[in-house]
Amino acid sequence: MNADLVVVGSGLFGLTIAERCANELGLKVLMLDRRYHIGGNAYSEPDPDTGIEVHKYGAHLFHTSNKRVWEYVNRFTSFTSYQHRVFTIFKGRVFPMPVNLATICEYFGKAMSPDEARALVAEQAAEIDGATAESFEDKGISLVGRPLYEAFFRGYTLKQWQTDPKELPGATLTRLPVRYNFDNRYFNDTYEGLPSEGYTAWLTRMADHPNIEVKLDTDFFDLRSDIVGNVPVVYTGPVDQYFEYAAGDLSWRTIDFDYEVKPVGDFQGTPVMNYADEDVPYTRIIEPRHFHPERDYPKDKTVIMREFSRFAVKGDEPYYPINTAEDREKLLKYRELANAETQVLFGGRLGTYKYLDMHMAIGSALSMFDNLVRPYFAEGATFE
Ligand code: FDA
Repeated sequence: MNADLVVVGSGLFGLTIAERCANELGLKVLMLDRRYHIGGNAYSEPDPDTGIEVHKYGAHLFHTSNKRVWEYVNRFTSFTSYQHRVFTIFKGRVFPMPVNLATICEYFGKAMSPDEARALVAEQAAEIDGATAESFEDKGISLVGRPLYEAFFRGYTLKQWQTDPKELPGATLTRLPVRYNFDNRYFNDTYEGLPSEGYTAWLTRMADHPNIEVKLDTDFFDLRSDIVGNVPVVYTGPVDQYFEYAAGDLSWRTIDFDYEVKPVGDFQGTPVMNYADEDVPYTRIIEPRHFHPERDYPKDKTVIMREFSRFAVKGDEPYYPINTAEDREKLLKYRELANAETQVLFGGRLGTYKYLDMHMAIGSALSMFDNLVRPYFAEGATFE
């Protein structure tokens, strides 16, 4: 094999490793992806009918407070000044998210100062003692009071988990996002924006190096015996699959997208509208044109995507790790197996069974490059 390193998966983790190895160490990198495109879940493509950039695997908003990551990504793309904001519909009324002072004033129908709102929420939250609350529902009420919990957290959580929050454990719930000011920016990070020419231009530029060969529509497991043992590997596919599910399947949630082109210039006036009511089956509607108000998109058509959340079964796209106690036990076994591999490193969201935002995937790839990959190639260290 004419490569110094094989990278399995061309998502942001794999791309960062490949780019650093080619540019910094002059290595020849072979990057495999089983999909027809590079970029992993951050990939986007224009809708064929309208030309509107659609994030194929769900809305992707770039944000980070990590200066190193921000400077790194700016080598490949500039960013727009987009700031993410979300609204939610509950019982026919619209409220800003995350729950903030505007949401609270609007919900209770009166102007309140931060202290007045805090006092009201504390009084309502006192209904249940948080120390003894066992379910997600009771814990939620003990944190924000019943009215806000039932309006903004109950239905959404039920739809996300397909489980009544009365049945979900409350142990891991320590806070629910409530702000006692009028700040309705979704992210608090120092840097935020969307890639000016789209995600795919950014991701393609990362792989644009004569030493990087990308093979799409190629499943690592079809080539495994030619690769493992012959060339070092950075593997960003599912860790349980790598070990042939020896410790069992890790569980994930997935999303079904219901995609529609609407014959109107603007469907909902905002990029993301959540639906908090239990009897609306979808969790939210994305309207991608609003991610780029600066672009000249058609004025008579728009794309919308309704999102339906559910547990993933084999063959589904794994999106969010569920991370039950059994999952954590299995993961420990997979970590032991991974540590015993001398020529394979495991990274990215599938390789570590961790939800990672884009900036976290890039940041952790940069750390892996510094701490393991560079020493391995430059100093003959091992992958441990
Ligand atoms: P990623 O999953 O992107 O890439 C892994 C690649 O490996 C895939 O291309 C896959 O095809 C390939 N692969 C797997 N097995 C293989 C095999 N056997 N052979 C060959 N190839 C194989 N982040 C953020 O910052 N802001 C946001 O708004 C969002 N929004 C968001 C929405 C949704 C619905 C999800 C699921 C995720 C987000 N994210 C996000 C997170 C973001 O998608 C994530 O940080 C990156 O995808 C992580 O990149 P990775 O390279 O780790 O995985």
